[in-house]
Amino acid sequence: MTDATLKFGEKELNLPMLSPTAGPDVIDIQKLYAQGGVFTYDPGFTSTASCQSKITFIDGNKGELLYRGYPIDQLAEKSHFLEVCYLLLYGELPTSEQLSEFVPRVTRHTMLHEQMAYFYRGFRRDAPPMAVVCGVMGALSSFYHDSTDITDPEQREIATVRMIAKIPTITAWAYKYSIGQPFVYPKNELDYTSNFLHMCFSVPAEKYAVDPILSRAMDRIFTLHADHEQNASTSTVRLAGSSGANPFACIAAGVACLWGPAHGGANEAALNMLREIGTVDRIPEYIARAKDKSDPFRLMGFGHRVYKNFDPRAKVMKESADEVLGLMGIENNPTLQVAKELEKIALEDPYFIEKKLYPNVDFYSGIILDAMGFPSSMFTPIFALARTVGWIAQWKEMISEPTQKIGRPRQLYTGPTYRDYVDVENR
Ligand code: CMC
Repeated sequence: MTDATLKFGEKELNLPMLSPTAGPDVIDIQKLYAQGGVFTYDPGFTSTASCQSKITFIDGNKGELLYRGYPIDQLAEKSHFLEVCYLLLYGELPTSEQLSEFVPRVTRHTMLHEQMAYFYRGFRRDAPPMAVVCGVMGALSSFYHDSTDITDPEQREIATVRMIAKIPTITAWAYKYSIGQPFVYPKNELDYTSNFLHMCFSVPAEKYAVDPILSRAMDRIFTLHADHEQNASTSTVRLAGSSGANPFACIAAGVACLWGPAHGGANEAALNMLREIGTVDRIPEYIARAKDKSDPFRLMGFGHRVYKNFDPRAKVMKESADEVLGLMGIENNPTLQVAKELEKIALEDPYFIEKKLYPNVDFYSGIILDAMGFPSSMFTPIFALARTVGWIAQWKEMISEPTQKIGRPRQLYTGPTYRDYVDVENR
C-alpha cells in the first residue's frame, strides 16, 4: 500500500498507510504534528483508530462480530462464558487441559475479602446497584493491593483472575443489599453463571436450584456482552490504564463509563421505554416522537455507532428471549409483544431504513433479565459483569505493548486568546 499524501498550504506530507488483517486501511498520522504542525479534528473518534488490537473485530456493514476471529453466533451457541473469557484473554480457544486448569483457577477466587461485607454497609440501601458495583470495583485496589503492580506480569494475571472471579459476587451482593436480603456466599460446586444466579436468587431460609435453561440464557448474555472492541467504556479503560493506574481503578473507570444511557444504560432505558409505550396501538406516537428533531426522545435499543446493517448480538438475544419467556410460560408478555411490533414497524419505516437504525443488543436483553426476575436497575451491572473480561483483555494488551504511552488527545481551542488579569474594581 503506497503512502497517503496530505496537502495543506505550502506543505505536502507523505503519511504511511497501515494494513489491518480486516477492516479499512489506516492512515498513520503519528508524525503529523511534528512534521506538519497541525492536529486532526475528530470529536467522538468517528474516524480515528486509537490503538492496534488483536482481540475483537466488528464489520458494521456486514453485521459481523468476531472474538479472536470466531463469530459471536457460533460462540453463543457452542461455547460458554469461561471458555470465551480464556479466548479473549489468551488469544486461542483452550484445550481441555487448559480449560480444566483455568476454570478452577477462577473459581478459587470467587469469595470477597470478608471486610468487604462491611464496606457494602456504608452504602445507602436505596443506592442504585450500578453505583455500588462502581464503588466496590474501585475499592478492590484497597483490599487486594498485592496485585496492583502493573509492571509485574504475575500480579497482572492475579488481578485478572480476581476481577473475573469476583465480579459476579460483587454484582449479586449489590442486588442483595438493595433488597435487604443477606449476602449469599459463592458455591464453587456450581458453574460460573449458575453461581451468579444462585447468589442473586437464593436465600438461606430455602433451597434454591438454578434452572439450567435460565443459566444457559444468562451465560449467553455474558458471552454476547463480553467484548466489543474500542467502545466508550473500553477506550476509557485503556486511557485510564495508559497512565499506569492499577487494574482495579481502570476497570472501575470502565464501569463508570458504561453507566450512561447511550452505552450500557440503554438496556434499562429500553425496557422502561417498552413499558411506557405499554400497548401496541401507542407505537406510532413513539415512532413519530423518535423522528421529530425538536423532541430529544430516541428509540432506546435502536441504532449503533458501528453496526449499520444489524447487530448480530440482537439476533441471538431475540431467540433467547423467546426461549426464556416460553419456559416461564409468559410468551404473551405485553412488553415482548410491544417490542416485536415496534421492531417490525421501525424496520419498515423509511426514517429508520435511511439512517440504518436496527435493534441493538440492548433491545431484547432487558426483556430476558426482567423475565428472570431482575429489576431494571440490575441490567447495567450485569452488562458490567460480562464486559469485565473484555476490559481486562484490552487493558492487558495495552500494557504489554512495547510502544505504549500515556493517552493525551489534542484539542481545537476556541476560547479567548491571551489577556491580562483585570482587578475586580476595574471589571
Ligand atoms: N432513535 C431515533 N433516531 C436515532 C436513534 C434512535 N435510537 N439513533 C440515532 N438516531 C438518528 C439521530 O437522530 C441522527 O439523525 P440525524 O442524522 O438526522 O441527525 C442519526 O440517527 C445518527 O445518529 P447519531 O447520534 O449521530 O449516531 P451515533 O452513531 O453517534 O449514535 C447511538 C449511536 C447508539 C448513541 C444512538 O443510535 C442512540 O442514542 N441509540 C439509543 C441508545 C442505545 O440504544 N444505545 C445502545 C447502544 S448498543 C450497546 C452498547 O454498545 O453500549
